[in-house]
Amino acid sequence: MNQQKNYRSVFSSATRQERENNFKDYWEFTQQHGGELFEGDKDLAKKRAKLKYFQDNQVKLRQPLADPDAFYRNYVEMQDAPETLNKMTLMLGAIYKFARHEWVGIKGAWDVVPDMANSHSIEDKISRIHLAEEFCHVRLFDEMLKTCGLDKVEWVPLTPFKEKVYEQFPKFPGFLMDAPAFVTELMGVTFYCHLYDIFDDVLADEPEVKARLKALLDEITIDEVAHVGQRRNFIGPIGMKVSKALVKPFYTMFFADIPEVALLFDVPQMIEDGRRFDFNELPDEMVARSWIPSYCVN
Ligand SMILES: [Fe+2]
Ligand SMILES: [Fe+2]
Repeated sequence: MNQQKNYRSVFSSATRQERENNFKDYWEFTQQHGGELFEGDKDLAKKRAKLKYFQDNQVKLRQPLADPDAFYRNYVEMQDAPETLNKMTLMLGAIYKFARHEWVGIKGAWDVVPDMANSHSIEDKISRIHLAEEFCHVRLFDEMLKTCGLDKVEWVPLTPFKEKVYEQFPKFPGFLMDAPAFVTELMGVTFYCHLYDIFDDVLADEPEVKARLKALLDEITIDEVAHVGQRRNFIGPIGMKVSKALVKPFYTMFFADIPEVALLFDVPQMIEDGRRFDFNELPDEMVARSWIPSYCVN
């Protein structure tokens, strides 16, 4: 943890010039961070190598899941009373459901935003790499579930109506889309930080798997922290006010859709953490591999 306050609120103000400079800086960062883009595979060289390392060096639960069917019965839609499920099943269900939303959102966006060859502005290029990183996250989440013995997980689309809604979203003009897109990234970081903390409790008797899930999650969170700053960088002063006002309704609505969340996490605290987010709580090693806008650095 950082002892001093090195960073400022993610809602700190920035001038147009500062934001322009930060896009250039982010573009430099993101190219070296992910390595070569494999557009046909929606993948990035460095991320692919990381995932391969995890797959080639598997760890397993000391005590396999007692009732994997409890997971499979409830992972797409909750069938049982959630209170009857143990914490492990709830946690794995929450991971899947959060990742599924992410997957649906990016799947819709990938086909409508310009590919790299047709990306002429720096913002478009950044957005293309950003989406490729999100696909890597779904693979890392899938690896978390496999690490816990769940190798029959399917990535199930939402209802056709909801899928359509997600597909329309990236076509909206920036002034409508930028604030929700930023708050969604912020919600990701908040969720991942809280998820990281419950690994200690839920996986107390599983040190190897606990360490592995933390390592997998770190790979995701490092990207998401950078996405938070990057998406913030799209937004002017009015949009920032809108964004801050959106934190509570967005988090509330999104987490209400995942029944596991209320049983595992303190949602009001998550909302508070989102509204107060300033990078200072993140471990130094994570910050060193991520990206923070210059106007959020003291
Ligand atoms: Fe992500
Ligand atoms: Fe993201």
